[in-house]
Amino acid sequence: MTATVPRPSPARPALSALRDRALRLAELVTTPVLPADYLDMVNPLRAGTDLRGRVEAVQHETRDAATLVIRPGADWQPHVPGQWIRIGVDVDGVRMWRAYSLTSDLTRADGCISITVKAIPGGKVSNHLVRRVRPGTLVHLDQATGEFVLPDARPEKVLFVTAGSGITPVMGMLRNHPELDDVVLVHSAPTPDDVVFGAELRALAATGRIRLVEQHTDTAGLLDPAGVAALVPDLAERATWACGPVAMLDALQEHWDAAGLGERLVTERFRPAVAATGEGGTVSFTRTGATVEADGATPILDAAEEAGVLMPSGCRMGICYGCVLPLREGAVRDLRTGEVTTAAPGDGVIVQTCVSAAAGACSLDH
Ligand SMILES: Cc1cc2nc3c(=O)[nH]c(=O)nc-3n(C[C@H](O)[C@H](O)[C@H](O)COP(=O)(O)OP(=O)(O)OC[C@H]3O[C@@H](n4cnc5c(N)ncnc54)[C@H](O)[C@@H]3O)c2cc1C
Ligand code: FES
Repeated sequence: MTATVPRPSPARPALSALRDRALRLAELVTTPVLPADYLDMVNPLRAGTDLRGRVEAVQHETRDAATLVIRPGADWQPHVPGQWIRIGVDVDGVRMWRAYSLTSDLTRADGCISITVKAIPGGKVSNHLVRRVRPGTLVHLDQATGEFVLPDARPEKVLFVTAGSGITPVMGMLRNHPELDDVVLVHSAPTPDDVVFGAELRALAATGRIRLVEQHTDTAGLLDPAGVAALVPDLAERATWACGPVAMLDALQEHWDAAGLGERLVTERFRPAVAATGEGGTVSFTRTGATVEADGATPILDAAEEAGVLMPSGCRMGICYGCVLPLREGAVRDLRTGEVTTAAPGDGVIVQTCVSAAAGACSLDH
């Protein structure tokens, strides 16, 4: 008996060579717009192109917060609950990048993801997303990242402390981790109506899935660590995740550290903590020719954007490296640590403009 060994079909290589030739020919005909650009126009969510998403729905949560349901491109990789994405949107013709935590349930049948945005006064991107974006809008995306997630060995007792939009990564965890059965959530917002996901959280509390403590700051004042400790007597036994304004997180960290519980607290910051400021200076941009007077407390990114310079950016708090630029000459100060970096031409030093302020005159390659 003779065995037949399957042989590769000659049709395949021939077909792919033909397709490559056709693409090269199309490139010649369509230059300067490449065939890939046409494919992007027809199917912007296709595999193998820049990761994008299409807004499928905008659901209003409170008077100033909305959830955007987004169909991600084919190359999207599932996230871990608690992580965030960088999202790029065009606001008045300018591409701007910001970070938003994912709030979606991983088991959604339609494969969509969601972010929930709270519009802040004067905020360029948050107001655009909450008040102006409509279904059908295309946005640019990065894959999810972040360490504000539960460990594989789930803690028996969990405490979440959140304020305002700080509820978003925690909502992502609550929706995806039904196995957590001893959860206390202490959340603060100005009024009951300002609690983002208020109805869903209260429903979870009604079924006994979580113990929910709402602090309405208009009547009860700001949440402080002593208040949390009074509300949660078994706090020392709980692994704690906290997300909210910088001042609240700093106070919680100090309290947990003082009680020897520092390692049991994980925080997620939406804004960098500024620890050190100093003298500013003139920032010049070698390629655009722009010159900006910046004080020593303002990130170069903010000062440059304020002066109308188009800058690369991302999280705006020193974690994504979407804003780095070569420092050609001069000095900048890291606002988080006070460390001053100096450069001379040829040094090849790069700096994160979102957490660096001018420390005297400096010039950046941009
Ligand atoms: C990891 C991470 C996850 C995030 N997740 C969410 C989320 O799920 N939902 C959400 O709504 N936001 C989230 N943010 C914040 C978000 O990225 C933007 O900072 C926020 O939407 C403001 O952007 P903006 O363009 O509207 O404001 P900008 O135009 O950049 O700033 C306007 C003014 O507000 C100040 N400002 C900027 N951001 C804040 C802030 N967060 N709080 C108070 N003042 C601010 C600025 O200093 C400036 O004075 C997250 C940030 C990070 C780093
Ligand atoms: S914008 Fe993310 S590190 Fe600067």
